[in-house]
Amino acid sequence: MSEKLFIKNGTLANGTKADISISDGIITSINTLPSAPEGVKVIDAKHCLILPGLVDLHTHLREPGKESAETVLSGSLAAAKGGYVAVSAMANTTPVADNASVVEHVYRLGQKAGIVDVFPVGAVTQGLVGENLADIGAMANSDARVRVFSDDGNCVSDPLVMRHALEYVKGFDGVIAQHAQEPRLTHGAQMNEGIVSSQLGLKGWPAIAEEAIIARDILLADFLQARLHICHVTTAGGVEIIRWAKARGISVTAEVTPHHLLLTDESARSYDAVYKVNPPLRTEKDVMALRAGLAEGIIDIVATDHAPHATESKECEWQEASFGMLGLETALPIVNQTMVQTGLMSWEQVAVRMSTAPAQIGRYENHGHEIAVGAKAHMTVINPTATHRVDRDLVLSRSRNTPFHGLELPGVIMATVFGGRVTYEGNK
Ligand code: DOR
Ligand code: ZN
Repeated sequence: MSEKLFIKNGTLANGTKADISISDGIITSINTLPSAPEGVKVIDAKHCLILPGLVDLHTHLREPGKESAETVLSGSLAAAKGGYVAVSAMANTTPVADNASVVEHVYRLGQKAGIVDVFPVGAVTQGLVGENLADIGAMANSDARVRVFSDDGNCVSDPLVMRHALEYVKGFDGVIAQHAQEPRLTHGAQMNEGIVSSQLGLKGWPAIAEEAIIARDILLADFLQARLHICHVTTAGGVEIIRWAKARGISVTAEVTPHHLLLTDESARSYDAVYKVNPPLRTEKDVMALRAGLAEGIIDIVATDHAPHATESKECEWQEASFGMLGLETALPIVNQTMVQTGLMSWEQVAVRMSTAPAQIGRYENHGHEIAVGAKAHMTVINPTATHRVDRDLVLSRSRNTPFHGLELPGVIMATVFGGRVTYEGNK
């Protein structure tokens, strides 16, 4: 059956007004039809921007293993609500995605849900323990065609293992996404090491624990001429090291999360573990450096690190709580608030950092394309001036650990279009 859609009265990121016709998953015309053809579903995008569908390179779906916190389906629905059309599902599931059968299982669950493209990330090492390489080749050759490998949650801390991993993925244009955390410097750490941690008496996590690994792996990537991606950069020093690497032409890319663009370690004073995250919230100076680095392109992309956790893992004492916070449903409004409304970034740059560049890093060829005739119809429609209040009881995720509960955020996602199908429709 041929599915048709007409999006009228919208504005593209470059400011062009657009009426878009979609048929069988493809954009068939822009601004050529005077109105919607008879019987076609219409989305009125008045006052809205139409962006290329968002791509998240860093999502934790909890299936298999912790379906009470999230499933591939619930995470896909949360992603669509946030304007996403593709997510990379991190490997720290139970069992770990360190072999072809688990990544194929997750990939098929994503296809069955049919709400976003779910691209499984493969583990770098067996069981994420950092010792022996996972079945990287088998995962790359599997039906899931894995190109992104990460032990995220853990750092690949052994430099020899990291070397071997970078060498291996180079053979098929893969990338290692490193969770930069020197374990010897962060043992038992609970939050950023600084004034707040010493006042609260919580064990601190120094910025250098992140920066030392970023620097080491950049040198390794240069030495091996392999692709390295740095997950969730959180420190001003990290941005400086990546700036140095890019100036030398080293093949490194980096991400920042929405929460690290907005929140600081001051929020730990509440002792509310909803603010407990790995890597930790840092200082105001770091937040400002991350925003500047993202605007400048030193940090290539925004990735959510969406990390759902069951209530009992978060509504408990800080020391006992799990690390992580929800991200998919609030990412674009937070980027709007921290980067666009502050004048640091244009919407065209937002489209690059949240769609084009993550698709390129992951080698997700059907994603991140400009909105043009003949392109796959993946789109995010957002009213950037309308506001909404975040309510943890209304999220589509199975978990409710959003640190933004109660905040009034600018930007309401009005529709998400995935391959020509409307996968989310807002109501404001
Ligand atoms: O806060 C985090 N939560 N950081 C990670 O690296 C892992 C994630 C998780 O899986 O909960
Ligand atoms: Zn991580």
